[in-house]
Amino acid sequence: MNIMDYEFLRKLLKERSGLDLSADKQYLVESRLLPLARKAGLPGIAELVQKLKGGLDALTTEVVEAMTTNETFFFRDKIPFDHLRDTILPMMQQSRANRKSLRIWSAASSTGQEPYSIAMLLKEKAAALTGWRIEIVATDLSQEVLEKSKAGIYSQFEVQRGLPIQLLVKYFAQIGELWQLNSELRGMVQHRQLNLLQDFTHLGKFDVIFCRNVLIYFDQETKINIFDRMAKIIEPDGMLMLGAAETVVGITDAFRPYPDKRGLYQPNCERGAARAPLRVVAAR
Ligand SMILES: C[S@@+](CC[C@H](N)C(=O)[O-])C[C@H]1O[C@@H](n2cnc3c(N)ncnc32)[C@H](O)[C@@H]1O
Repeated sequence: MNIMDYEFLRKLLKERSGLDLSADKQYLVESRLLPLARKAGLPGIAELVQKLKGGLDALTTEVVEAMTTNETFFFRDKIPFDHLRDTILPMMQQSRANRKSLRIWSAASSTGQEPYSIAMLLKEKAAALTGWRIEIVATDLSQEVLEKSKAGIYSQFEVQRGLPIQLLVKYFAQIGELWQLNSELRGMVQHRQLNLLQDFTHLGKFDVIFCRNVLIYFDQETKINIFDRMAKIIEPDGMLMLGAAETVVGITDAFRPYPDKRGLYQPNCERGAARAPLRVVAAR
């Protein structure tokens, strides 16, 4: 791939999804986009870039989706779900005892394993949450992964990754070689297409935000911007859960680490409340 084409694709991906590719990732771009070019009847990347320059929106979306990493699995990393069950929920049960409601956002939910792990965990705690209104909002940039998530249908391989067998038996029905999550659990999760680079205030306020394994792909400026905007829609005593390779430390003071709980952060209330309104980053 020639350097001009690579630079064009790098810029496009950064603008559209936040993906921050270093200068040496041509092989990755080529391996993901060549099949897409061929599928579109184009001989190679150069021709694909020409088409993109012509402004084909559907093709641009396909390119962006082909370059995102959708890797996920049930109860990924375990610790965040332990924190949810053992730290966040008991705390929220007390602090929200009167209003009896909880809003949780899975901010890059991919094919649904993360929001459905949360739903199963809450369902297992149903007795303690009787009468509570629970909302789980799952958002992702990619419409394709959201469709899979909505269907709640997983392969044998996918259900074997992280899902305890007793939860599989309890909440899934076997359809041939596939497994479908039951409609009650699927109904606990609302799906919305959302680009984190764009405004998300319309989602409303959240008590808990899971934003895991997506910010690692973004540059510092983008991360700061997203953290700052998340701080505006999380409750003052809300909790932010990041992925194992992600942190706010050294990036923003909008959140601070929750003591002794790896990956867990709280909005920093001591931070100046009257800051200038935040603009969203460049996404179109
Ligand atoms: C590696 S998956 C993480 C899934 C899940 N949170 C987990 O930790 O298992 C990253 C997801 O982020 C989504 N994504 C990438 N860029 C995004 C953006 N700008 N806005 C929203 N979602 C994005 C991708 O489509 C992908 O599904």
